[in-house]
Amino acid sequence: MLIKIPQGWELPESAATPESVFRNRRALLKGLAAGPFVAAAAAALPSAGALAADPPDPSAKYYPAKRNEAYKVDRDITNEVSASSWNNFYEYMPAAGNITAQAQQLKVRPWEVKITGMVDKPFTIGFDDLLTKVQMEERVYRHRCVETWSMTVPWSGFALKHLVDLAKPLGSAKYLKMVTFNDKDMAPVQRQFWWPWPYTEGLTIQEATHDLAFIATGIYGQPMPKQHGAPLRLVVPWKYGFKAVKSIVEFNFTDQRPTTFWETTGPREYGFWANVNPAVAHPRWSQAEERPLGGNRKVPTLIYNGYGEQVASLYAGMPANEKLFM
Ligand code: MTE
Repeated sequence: MLIKIPQGWELPESAATPESVFRNRRALLKGLAAGPFVAAAAAALPSAGALAADPPDPSAKYYPAKRNEAYKVDRDITNEVSASSWNNFYEYMPAAGNITAQAQQLKVRPWEVKITGMVDKPFTIGFDDLLTKVQMEERVYRHRCVETWSMTVPWSGFALKHLVDLAKPLGSAKYLKMVTFNDKDMAPVQRQFWWPWPYTEGLTIQEATHDLAFIATGIYGQPMPKQHGAPLRLVVPWKYGFKAVKSIVEFNFTDQRPTTFWETTGPREYGFWANVNPAVAHPRWSQAEERPLGGNRKVPTLIYNGYGEQVASLYAGMPANEKLFM
């Protein structure tokens, strides 16, 4: 049997609901045509009883982290309301939109992170312990979603290379695979068996240890809101946003290139590298322009999302058959 899984960014322009309409749950359910989105969104909405109040956040003392002025961008920072009410987190709603209510089902304490695979010694560390071992800072980065929306936000967190150092990978490890939680009670959309849960992403070790690769634990000077992927998510600003795996529970070092969530779902449209390139169209739309959240104007998209000077050398001499921009 052939199952066609519509993705958020597959909606035809006529069916796409404007951002403003997504801002409340009733409008979302009324505004989309009947179909899998409605069923999925409704199934994902938490009942009031399912949500217990969160205890005080033990990591609150790290915020705001000191801004690292070395990471500047020539764009205005997106307003917080726009960035935190237009999210992609398929575990809570298989389409971009306002998922703040659904994401409250995510339980972020206790939260353990496993370091596995080709490392000196595999270990598990609590998220709050991990924060005592890294250097927290704030960085303003661009973010470009493959769907063509974009934002510029101050992330708080630490360089991914600090975590790689803690993990002590073996010289033979070539890739870092990162995995989101898999828990149907915490994320009811994970009951939809046709998606390849858990959400998985990967980088080469060279990419993971690049200066720009960042683990974000907060945004706008506060601990990470659930809809952005609390308590920790990847940020690689030169790649399309789907690489930025949220709510990570495992960092696995391996010599095999990981197959990612989107590669499994749509191998003709999404690949491992996913570097931003305005000249390489998605099979169904142009990537030449983007729409910064919080407005309707479009701006040109930049090669490597404006980070070419820093990252282009990572891809020099790659075999011609590598699809670096999908
Ligand atoms: N991580 C998980 N686990 N699940 C997802 O659906 N969506 C990705 C990425 N990380 C996604 C994810 C996509 S497509 C984008 S554009 C960014 O998260 C969006 O991040 P934001 O919602 O914080 O803006």
